[in-house]
Amino acid sequence: MRDIWQRKPLLIRQAFPGIVPPVSREALLSLADRNEVESRLVTHFRNRWKLEQGPFAAENLPSLKAKQWTLLVQGVNLHDTAAADLMGQFRFVPDARLDDLMISYATDGGGVGPHFDSYDVFLLQVSGRRRWRISSQTKLDLLPNLPLKILADFSAEEEWVLEPGDMLYLPPQYAHDGTAEGECMTCSIGFRAPAYRELAGHFLAWLSETVEDNEDLGGRYADPGERAAKNPAHLPAGMAKAVAQRLKALQWNSAMVSEFLGTYLSEPKPTVEFAEVPDIPMRQYAKLARTHGVVLAPGSIALYDGTHFFLNGEAYEPPPELARWLHRLADYRQLSAAEIKACAELPDLLDTFHHWTLEGWLQLSPAAL
Ligand code: SIN
Ligand code: CO
Repeated sequence: MRDIWQRKPLLIRQAFPGIVPPVSREALLSLADRNEVESRLVTHFRNRWKLEQGPFAAENLPSLKAKQWTLLVQGVNLHDTAAADLMGQFRFVPDARLDDLMISYATDGGGVGPHFDSYDVFLLQVSGRRRWRISSQTKLDLLPNLPLKILADFSAEEEWVLEPGDMLYLPPQYAHDGTAEGECMTCSIGFRAPAYRELAGHFLAWLSETVEDNEDLGGRYADPGERAAKNPAHLPAGMAKAVAQRLKALQWNSAMVSEFLGTYLSEPKPTVEFAEVPDIPMRQYAKLARTHGVVLAPGSIALYDGTHFFLNGEAYEPPPELARWLHRLADYRQLSAAEIKACAELPDLLDTFHHWTLEGWLQLSPAAL
């Protein structure tokens, strides 16, 4: 983190010795056939780039014998626990910055062409071999009229063939091109870095809702004593002044920004659907939770700051004795049976967990089901 992160590429041979793909080729292809899974197919047949969006029924994919195609499946961590565990190895970067684990499957010669990404990425080879060529070039013009972003001029400075277990880290905007040598699978651990412009828009919307009770923002524009208009299209002279005066109520400090960030960044991805859980009576729930523990659902995002606990876009202000356990739940994404026993008597805790479980946000540990 000190020397490499966001600064320069790094090749780590055997970062994950003995790695096996978190999902098989067949399981990946069947994920790509699901509506709630984001997938793309990139083909480079007869020297022409083509991009299609999923879902893909098996018969709509090129033959496994055909060369030069690749299937990219986004958010595999949301659907597969082995993929989620693998992504968990990258939590030396805070969850607020982690995005998802994508898996690409490519046939010989397959790839997405020379390009750059806006985000950091760890490219972990999980089966077969892939040749990566990279460049620190600052000229990042793209070829026109193509369905995907391909660099107009790519001149590689370094290249390596990655074997299973090898990993390449690339900072944002670093030009790269990966080509499968024989069929292969690569995991991309991707990050999120929200654009300030995007944050500003969402923050102001959040702020105007949050200050709803603020008296200065109550009421409506009024103009008693306004003169009859001579130039009806002209904005009334006092209007901007009066509104600007009231808008001054929209003030903020970093504690409010933190509350906004936690709420916004813990919003689940739009494709995530939480499975509804049949109601379990509270007594039975409490017993199961104490015996087996609880885990966050794969699509749940839990974050916290000094005051708040955030889960899936909701902000809570738990008292300190409760916060301690919620922080543990967020950091480890689970609480063991022993931990539940230790905190079960805290007021509201099990009721809250029960409620989150019925929402599909929290699950009784698999052993309980
Ligand atoms: C791939 O896995 O084929 C593409 C990943 C990337 O270059 O970002
Ligand atoms: Co890339």
